[in-house]
Amino acid sequence: MNHQIHFWAVVPAAGVGKRMNADRPKQYLELGDSTVIEHTLSRLLQAGVFSAIAVAISEEDPYWPELALSKHEKIITAPGGKERADSVLSGLKSIGDKANDDDWVLVHDAARPCLTSEDILKLIDVLKNDEVGGILALSSHDTLKNVDGDKILGTLDRRHIWRALTPQMFRFGMLRAALEATAGDPRITDEASALEIQGFVPKIVEGRPDNIKITRPEDLALAQFYMEHQ
Ligand code: CTP
Ligand code: MG
Repeated sequence: MNHQIHFWAVVPAAGVGKRMNADRPKQYLELGDSTVIEHTLSRLLQAGVFSAIAVAISEEDPYWPELALSKHEKIITAPGGKERADSVLSGLKSIGDKANDDDWVLVHDAARPCLTSEDILKLIDVLKNDEVGGILALSSHDTLKNVDGDKILGTLDRRHIWRALTPQMFRFGMLRAALEATAGDPRITDEASALEIQGFVPKIVEGRPDNIKITRPEDLALAQFYMEHQ
């Protein structure tokens, strides 16, 4: 490899936020002085490492063009897809003419506005010489049960269970090929799972617990709290 390796970000932002039960997709809800997605994108821009950020947006989305960031020189708008994985693949395609196969891509949920530069730079630092890449993850503090209906079948060994967060960092070519090969597979709920099914072994890097995904109404207040205390 005699060319420079670049870093790209892909942000899936084409969900409807059903569990949030709001009047608009959750990425456009107010969080302090701006919207959730503006915080998320500002934090990716602040890290200062990305050549561009591809954002996957639903075709029916009237909110995105209203945001100044949608015209930012480093931000590229891509069409959203049916499932999250489709949106991510669309984002990858939108930078396909600029990114090299061995460049790194960090995929980060629009719904995780509390991401810190510290975590972005840690993920990159730990994995930049890795063959495959990996993800930010969190261990569980609670005891975890394997359950059928309301019956406990057993207790899981917590040392082997981690919660997958984003960003998830993979090589552009490998990630694109894995998402194309697994398109439509309901088991693919994150980037790592697409690579795992292909036989690759992604790594985990311990992330900060304040990198929450806004999912339910109470999460907005929690995100606000974390931001004030970061
Ligand atoms: N996402 C996307 N395209 C989809 C579905 C989801 O880009 N077809 C994005 C969401 O916008 C979000 C991220 O993927 O930033 C994580 O998904 P999730 O938290 O599940 O968001 P929603 O699908 O919007 O929420 P819900 O599942 O409650 O409807
Ligand atoms: Mg969803």
